[in-house]
Amino acid sequence: MSAATGTPGDSAPVRSNQPGVHPRLAEVVRRHLERAWEQPPHGPTVAALEALRRRLPELHERPLVLDSGCGTGESTLALAARHPEALVLGIDRSAARLRRGGRVEPRCDGRAIWLRAELTTAWRWLADRGVHLRAHYLLYPNPWPKAAQLQRRWHGHPIFPTLLALGGRVELRTNWRIYAEEFAIAAAIAGRRAAPAVARLAEGPPLTAFERKYAASGHALYRVALAEANAAPESARDGAGRDADVGESERGDASPKNVVQEEVSSE
Ligand SMILES: C[S@@+](CC[C@H](N)C(=O)[O-])C[C@H]1O[C@@H](n2cnc3c(N)ncnc32)[C@H](O)[C@@H]1O
Repeated sequence: MSAATGTPGDSAPVRSNQPGVHPRLAEVVRRHLERAWEQPPHGPTVAALEALRRRLPELHERPLVLDSGCGTGESTLALAARHPEALVLGIDRSAARLRRGGRVEPRCDGRAIWLRAELTTAWRWLADRGVHLRAHYLLYPNPWPKAAQLQRRWHGHPIFPTLLALGGRVELRTNWRIYAEEFAIAAAIAGRRAAPAVARLAEGPPLTAFERKYAASGHALYRVALAEANAAPESARDGAGRDADVGESERGDASPKNVVQEEVSSE
């Protein structure tokens, strides 16, 4: 994909045959919450993580931040600056993309580490070892915008309960508003509230290659931030209003009036 990191300003907005939140979202999320996912792990990912643990025994001892689907990995470096107390692990399955960013994996640059791995296995591997993340970034995941692809989006995937079980403050960014809305609703169904449900990102220095490309193409960018499970919401808002916003959407009314929006800094 030439547009993957590259040419600013030529990116088409996400096109979908879904006019709003997927009507089966709640049913799919609840089903995944009830049943553990039992697909066999991806062997090379397990091997890569075991090798990383041998090389970095402090992996389980220091606070850990994940940059899941880090692409070329520039965000991983920026996040390491933002989280000086933590190791920041950027994971992507695309060797080509990691290489394009100069992160031939596994590669460490101070506290930033890049690894080529499959996320669904990596998340399970970490959760099985009781890792509790300090923060988890999902920056511009593939949108899978066709209605039939709901279960390929992270919140519609059977891995979603594991993603949430890893804990930490979760930040999702996307240029597809419906993805953000669905993610916030799915998290609420699983007991994690986003506050505000969905926020528009204000213009600012881009955190990732895709963010740069989308911003240059004039796309609106959205952010969902889930506070740590027991933490106070990061942006104090009227609790009654927030509950109503998510609750309405859960009942299948996906109209924009149900989504809280405010501009938040992109940093
Ligand atoms: C749209 S790109 C965004 C990359 C980067 N976060 C950015 O904003 O520039 C999505 C990335 O997620 C990676 N990805 C998607 N599914 C994955 C999976 N199951 N395991 C690992 N990486 C995955 C892709 O290889 C791709 O680099």
